Amino acid sequence: MAFPSPASPLPLDQILPGDCRQVLGNLPEKSIDLVFADPPYNLQLQQQLYRPNNTRVDAVNDAWDQFSGFAEYDAFTRSWLEASRRVMKDNASLWVIGTYHNIYRIGAILQDLGFWILNDIAWVKDNPMPNFRGVRFTNAHETLIWAVKSKAARYTFNYQSMKAINEGLQMRSDWRLPICSGPERARVNGQKAHSTQKPIALLYRVIMAASHPDDVVLDPFFGTGTTGAVARLLGRHWIGVEQEEKYITLAQERIAQVQPAPLESLELPRRTHRKREERLRFAALVETGLLRPGQTLYFKGDRAQPALILANGHLRAGDFTGSIHQTALHLSGAPSNGWECWSVEDESGELVSIDSIRQRLNHAKPSENTKQA
Ligand SMILES: C[S@@+](CC[C@H](N)C(=O)[O-])C[C@H]1O[C@@H](n2cnc3c(N)ncnc32)[C@H](O)[C@@H]1O
Repeated sequence: MAFPSPASPLPLDQILPGDCRQVLGNLPEKSIDLVFADPPYNLQLQQQLYRPNNTRVDAVNDAWDQFSGFAEYDAFTRSWLEASRRVMKDNASLWVIGTYHNIYRIGAILQDLGFWILNDIAWVKDNPMPNFRGVRFTNAHETLIWAVKSKAARYTFNYQSMKAINEGLQMRSDWRLPICSGPERARVNGQKAHSTQKPIALLYRVIMAASHPDDVVLDPFFGTGTTGAVARLLGRHWIGVEQEEKYITLAQERIAQVQPAPLESLELPRRTHRKREERLRFAALVETGLLRPGQTLYFKGDRAQPALILANGHLRAGDFTGSIHQTALHLSGAPSNGWECWSVEDESGELVSIDSIRQRLNHAKPSENTKQA
């Protein structure tokens, strides 16, 4: 399929099958606003891993992660990065995630190609898999590099949104988020459908930080389509490339189930100076999908006092916009703990408090991880 065509300059909201190094060549130059890439890790796992109780560890030993050595991996990396760079608009940005196995090589190649690195983010996993053999430190983080095509690029950074998501504090480069588990994890016959499915919360931050509604987000290594699912939720267009048919089907089914957030919940926040009051951020419930932008909360169980959840974790009640605490204060006229004031309808139409929903996050149990060194 060649693009552009008169009918469709870009294949929006579609998965393009094949090898991204070739497929990206069919997209128009300078057409993409944001790239998120989760390439093969080149883990070089030589043997099956077992837990102390002799159960097998579901590690990354897929064919798509096999390379003959660093030279082949570097050539592969250079090729997909060049293809991505060609389709990026001049002010677009690129995020790439990896571990110590590959991220240093990718970082060096990015710089060799002229990219300018803006940040590296440490995704610190709340619940990493232990190092079963006890021969090294537990591998508890992955690194994201955020880069632009040149130092002069006027890239998108929604600073105020990230600050609002972080309860009014400037967001730092260490993100503490759980790995993908529970109902979020795609399964086929009870088995993980993909070995490296990324959590929604991670993509939520990337897309909120570095794009606007209606922007086009490209993911050259689409897997289960986490990028597409979050882009659709947040009113962005997406394009995925994936070479394995089984993942394409899975991702299509997954994304079809996502209900886009209403436009009015996606606007950028106003400046806020609220101090941190609660250990768990309300936005964490939205980032992890326990609550959704566009859903309605009710004040003190009163359906006559609704508030809309915004994508940045603020609420809107009538003309007022603010955190759960600020909005509760606005409605009641007295300082209030927002966690105790708001409820939401569950599947059966009953009102449940958001405080009970946050307990689910607090009690998220450690579970299987995707990688093991
Ligand atoms: C690390 S996984 C991405 C997982 C994804 N972020 C998710 O949340 O599900 C890498 C994916 O890229 C695919 N892949 C590997 N090499 C590829 C290539 N050259 N072109 C397109 N897809 C490729 C693999 O099949 C795999 O699904």
